[in-house]
Order: sequence, then C-alpha cells, then structure tokens
Amino acid sequence: MNRTNFLIIGSGIAGLNFALHAAKKGHVTILTKKKVAESNTNYAQGGIAGVLDKLDSANQHIEDTFNAGARHGKKKAIKFMVEKSKEAITRLIELGVEFEKEHGKLKLTREGGHSHRRIAYVGDYTGQEIENILIKRVREHPNIEIVENAFALDLLKKRKTIYGASFTKNNNIDYIFADAVILATGGIGQLYQHTTNPKITTGDGIAMAIRAGATTKDLEFTQFHPTALNKRRTPLFLLSETLRGEGAKLKNTTGARFMHKHSPKLKELASRDIVARAIYSESKDGPVTLDISHKSRDFLKKRFPKIYAELRKYKLDLAKDLIPVIPAAHYTCGGIKTNLKGRTNLNRLFAFGEAACTGVHGANRLASNSLLEALVFSNQIAQNVKPLRTSKVLSLPHQTISKDKNLIKKANAIQKEIKKIMWEHAGIVRSHKKIQEGLMRMKQIKKSLAKIKPTTETTREVQEAINMLEVGTSILKSAKKRKKTLGCHFIA
Ligand code: FAD
Ligand code: SIN
Repeated sequence: MNRTNFLIIGSGIAGLNFALHAAKKGHVTILTKKKVAESNTNYAQGGIAGVLDKLDSANQHIEDTFNAGARHGKKKAIKFMVEKSKEAITRLIELGVEFEKEHGKLKLTREGGHSHRRIAYVGDYTGQEIENILIKRVREHPNIEIVENAFALDLLKKRKTIYGASFTKNNNIDYIFADAVILATGGIGQLYQHTTNPKITTGDGIAMAIRAGATTKDLEFTQFHPTALNKRRTPLFLLSETLRGEGAKLKNTTGARFMHKHSPKLKELASRDIVARAIYSESKDGPVTLDISHKSRDFLKKRFPKIYAELRKYKLDLAKDLIPVIPAAHYTCGGIKTNLKGRTNLNRLFAFGEAACTGVHGANRLASNSLLEALVFSNQIAQNVKPLRTSKVLSLPHQTISKDKNLIKKANAIQKEIKKIMWEHAGIVRSHKKIQEGLMRMKQIKKSLAKIKPTTETTREVQEAINMLEVGTSILKSAKKRKKTLGCHFIA
C-alpha cells in the first residue's frame, strides 16, 4: 500500500505541468498507463495559441474562442485562460521549450477560426517538444515519482470524498492513498472507429469520475478534425490545420475548391466543425484532397518536417501531390466539470486538461486552445489540501487480474464494436433516430460485457471496454438531450 500527497493520473501536458507546481508543496506520484511520453500531447502538431503579438488583443482571442464554440462557452473561463496565455507560454519558454523565432521574436502561425496569427509552434511537432521538456523537468525533481505502465482502474471513495485510486502494474492490483487526486487522463478519441488519437485515449479518467459520482458536462461535443490522412493507419495521421494556415487549399474529386460554398468569408480557415462537415459532405462524391503544392519544397521540408517525411512513406510528395484527407474524431470539448481551480464536485478530486470541462471550448474548440487550456488551468499553484487521515478509510475493493487470453480477445472485439457504434451513431452528422439506436446497441454491449467478465477478475482490455461503454453511453445520452444543432453536435 502506497501513500502520497498528490496523486496525478496521466503524464501529458496537464499532469506533468501540475506535478511541477504540486511538488513545491509535497510528494507527488504520477501514474501513467504506458511509457511516460505516450499521450495526446506528444502528438500535437499545430501549436499553442496565445495573445503574443502587439497587434493582437485579449478581446479578439476571447471573441474567436467564444464564436468558434458556437457562443456556448463560459465567458469567465475563456477570459481567465486568454488573459493568462502570455504568462503561461513564457513559463514554457523558461522551462526550455524552444518555439520558432524570427528576428528575436516568436514566429506565429494561423489556424481556422483565429482572426489573427497567434499560434506559437515548433515545426509540426510542438507537442513532442513540450512533452519532452516537461518530462525532463519532472524527472529532475526529487519530489516527483513517475510510475509507468500503471493503469488506473478506479477512484477510492468514501461518501463524497476521494482518497486514492486502484491500479494495475505487472499483473497485480495495487492501491494508493493521497491527500488530493488529479485526473489528467486526456481524451476519448479511441471510442471512435476513425481517430487521430493514440491508443491510450479510452476515456478512462472520465469513466472513473462518472462511476465515483463526479458531474460531467458537454460530452455531446466530440470534435472531428477535418484533415486526417486518408490512409489506413492507427491512429490516423494528422495533417495539421497549420497547413491551411500556411495556404493549403481543399479540393473535391474534380479538383475544384469548395470551401467558399460552406464559409464564403473564411473558406479553408473556417472553424473546424464547419470544415469537417464540408469535407464529409463533399466526400460522398469522391475523395477530397489537400493541396499545398504552390509552396516550395524547401519551405515545406523546413516548416512541416514530420508531415513531409510521413507522406513519403506513402509515396506522397507534399510539394507536388494532392494529399487525400478524411475527418476523424480528435478532441472532447466536454468532460469532468470543474471550476477555475480544477475542482470537481467531489472532495479532494481535481481534473485538468482534455479530461476536464472548464467551459472554455463551448460546443467546438478553437484550434490550438487545448494545449493552452491544459497549461493555464494546471498552472495554478496546488492549493493546500488537508492531509488525509487514512484511518478513515473503510474497505478496499477486491479484484484480481485474469490470465485468460480468451477474455482479452473478447474484450478487444467489444471495443471494436463500440468504436463502430460511436462512429455511426454519434459521429459528424447525427440524427435523433440514430442516437436512440446507438443507445440501444450500447445496452446490448453492456449485456455482452457482463457475460464475458468474471465478477472478481479484470484485465486492462476489459476495463478499457467498460470505460468506453461508460463514456460512450454518456456521450449518446447527452446528445439525445440536445435536440438542436450546436457546434460539433450537428443534427441532420
Ligand atoms: P494527454 O496528453 O492525452 O495525456 C493523458 C495521459 O493520461 C497520458 O499519459 C495517458 O497515458 C494517461 N492515462 C489515460 N488513462 C489512464 C489510466 N487509466 N491510467 C493511467 N494513466 C492514464 N491541441 C493544441 O492545442 N494544439 C495542437 O497543435 C494540437 N494538435 C493535436 C494533434 C493530435 C494528433 C492530437 C491527437 C491532439 C492535438 N491537440 C492539439 C490536442 C491536445 O494535444 C490535447 O488535447 C492535449 O495534449 C491533452 O493534454 P492532457 O494532458 O489533458 O492529456
Ligand atoms: C492541428 O495541428 O491541426 C491540431 C491543432 C489542434 O488540435 O488544436
């Protein structure tokens, strides 16, 4: 049995950044599902938004965020995030992140829905650079312990207080007590058949929170990125929106541009929900492509080194070819409801980053506001949380790990079925009938899961399937309640 002051579940930007602050106040333990770097953060390409240019203003960034979110976002939270953006990005630079610069000033790029160039970036691998620096700083800290391949199963709870978590490591189940538990478990992309998100994104933190009685919000707003590379790969490879920010055009199967029909003013730089739906609709007549061949090879190789190299693997040349694209599940705008300090409705339980819903994204996230939200909210110096009296703890759940390979196979088949249901019934274009059918199919999945799962045993694959079912059902239920189209939730 372990004991820590701050138990952080997740090692993306939110978890690692919070850890650096919390370590000033006590001992920190980070549990992470796989290797420490495996996170959505590590895959982020475009950059991090902020008010970084004299000609830009907080008001403009606030307005853009609010408008992209279909005016559903919480103004107070948006203001809080935007006003702290410069300070937060400056701190990242002080920690060692080397954003692109020109004449000693940050070079800024643009993405859909932004009225200004305001995105700081590092080539097309901004997230990897941020993740590496944060890991380096966390590893240097004597008060922080990282436990890799530790899969959190559930929160430990007594009445309305969370006092720790159960987790699996090396095929054993273990428990850890903490004064405060922080869910920084990221998103839900893997609930969908087509996604840009890595395998870790099975919504575990949100599912654990729901089971413990935490309030969630806005779960119906799954964001679909318009331009994933249309080639079989898991996850689908992202073609950053900054390609369009640097002038790439979308073309339909006849080679003609089409975005003027969907957003006459902003065209390719309309907000993400509009572009994703336009591609979805044009794709019915044949493949949609992205074209940036008017830019020089030298520029493209330097500006987008990862994308350039990845495309070569498919014999595609960014400087010459039309690149096939499809929309894919990318981000959850909703999550565990928190206040500005990351507090949930349960005592001693906090949430930061993609798993949390602070209200800033409303019904559709503005590009590059995710890293910013995760950073700004987790930047708050960990508050004084009273030490936990472990004597108050009553009992621990009893579970063991199953060794049955057949069970793992069955759980994987159920995961696959859930992804299909979510794609078909809670996808880019929805209908009330489809949502209702999706809920019915999830009920059947629940029965199948109950049949395969022994009562006192689990495996990681089974637990992930349980979490996917929990969160997928909540998404469908939220979608059912929202009768009209709003942002990413589009009812045909
Ligand atoms: P993550 O970085 O996803 O970290 C979650 C952590 O929780 C991981 O370490 C994971 O292993 C761990 N975890 C999960 N479940 C468990 C469990 N049961 N037990 C233990 N550990 C667990 N946003 C931007 O702002 N700008 C961009 O340019 C951008 N580009 C993107 C490109 C791609 C391809 C993708 C997928 C996302 C992009 N995003 C971007 C979104 C952004 O990267 C994420 O929203 C953000 O990084 C989330 O950070 P996080 O710390 O909340 O979660
Ligand atoms: C991208 O680079 O297109 C992703 C940006 C984001 O998700 O904010």
